[in-house]
Amino acid sequence: MTSASDVISRVVAEFARRYGSEGMLLARAPGRVNLIGDHTDYNDGFVLPMAIDRAACIAFRPRTDAEVHVHALDVGEDGRFTANASQSKGEGWLEYLRAAAWTLSDAGYALRGWDGVVAGDVPVGAGLSSSAALELATMRAFAASSSLAWDAVRMAQLAQRAENLWVGVNCGIMDQLISSAGTAGHAMLIDCRSLALRAVPIPDTASVVVLDTTTRRELLTSAYNERRAQCVSAAAFFEVPMLRDVSLETFAHRSAALPGETRRRARHVITENMRTLAAADALTAGELPVVGRLMNESHASLRDDFEVSRRELDTIVTLAQEHPACFGARMTGAGFGGCAVALVLHAGAEDFVRDVTDRFEHATALRPAVYMCTASAGASMVGS
Ligand code: GLA
Repeated sequence: MTSASDVISRVVAEFARRYGSEGMLLARAPGRVNLIGDHTDYNDGFVLPMAIDRAACIAFRPRTDAEVHVHALDVGEDGRFTANASQSKGEGWLEYLRAAAWTLSDAGYALRGWDGVVAGDVPVGAGLSSSAALELATMRAFAASSSLAWDAVRMAQLAQRAENLWVGVNCGIMDQLISSAGTAGHAMLIDCRSLALRAVPIPDTASVVVLDTTTRRELLTSAYNERRAQCVSAAAFFEVPMLRDVSLETFAHRSAALPGETRRRARHVITENMRTLAAADALTAGELPVVGRLMNESHASLRDDFEVSRRELDTIVTLAQEHPACFGARMTGAGFGGCAVALVLHAGAEDFVRDVTDRFEHATALRPAVYMCTASAGASMVGS
């Protein structure tokens, strides 16, 4: 894995080689890790992600027409398309750029194209939102080439629309919103109904460690959409618009009449919203052991009630939780594979990484990938 500055220097060097560096602009947008609050965003609930120091980067120069000519450095492929034109969908990495162009022009923006080089260091398929990063970096490039005002919340809504309607993943707003609106050094409490944002500082004494089991799940989309449908039917049972609107008291009084599985799905969402709000307050107060305990409870709820964990995730979370420097750990993101996140005492982080890596490999024969992450800013132009 490379560092963010490596990605930037790679796209800059390749752009200069192809086009010369005059008039070159640089857009970047980060991936994310969610500290707590999973499968709550599409229930109008609360999430507490942070943008990470891994991003998609595009070096580009605006054109006078609507053509986009782009080279993807990581896969060594070229792509081209015309912004503003209605076209049929294809497959592969270029679709994320086309989806971004489509959502902007569908919202009424007149786009100018660009010549560019794209690369990234957000691991793909790990649950760290490499696709949101690519969409937001592309939108940032179009905003610059086409002189559009950058409204982070509005752009995230349009990126979510692109993901829902063009890419075909029925996701919530979390990934796009934290990629567009992240704040360096902070996690972000997001109210996914009002889209109100509250930046919560991450204390210097804490390290956020992402533990990638390297497992991946093929049928993630269908399992994800099934959970969404179960949440919708639970909300209908309680006669409210979304599970966000069900209190723990109401749940306790009425939920016995629900089928067991739907009842457990609802219980996860209702308690996860409460944990997320409590974790944001505890992090604000610097109470790291409280945040850690809530993360541990979140994992148990995702594992037992929402049933989106898997054996390797449970193993790495348990190993992390057993280390003395760890405040708490949980699976993060959609689940079924991919990453866990641990909140670790900074002074013990190196030992933590070594210990968990070795013990996980011993237990599963899989070598995990570990990313020590710092909280970065959302989508931006670099150096301008
Ligand atoms: C994926 C989706 C998000 C969110 C998480 C689970 O990352 O893209 O909208 O639902 O899963 O919290």
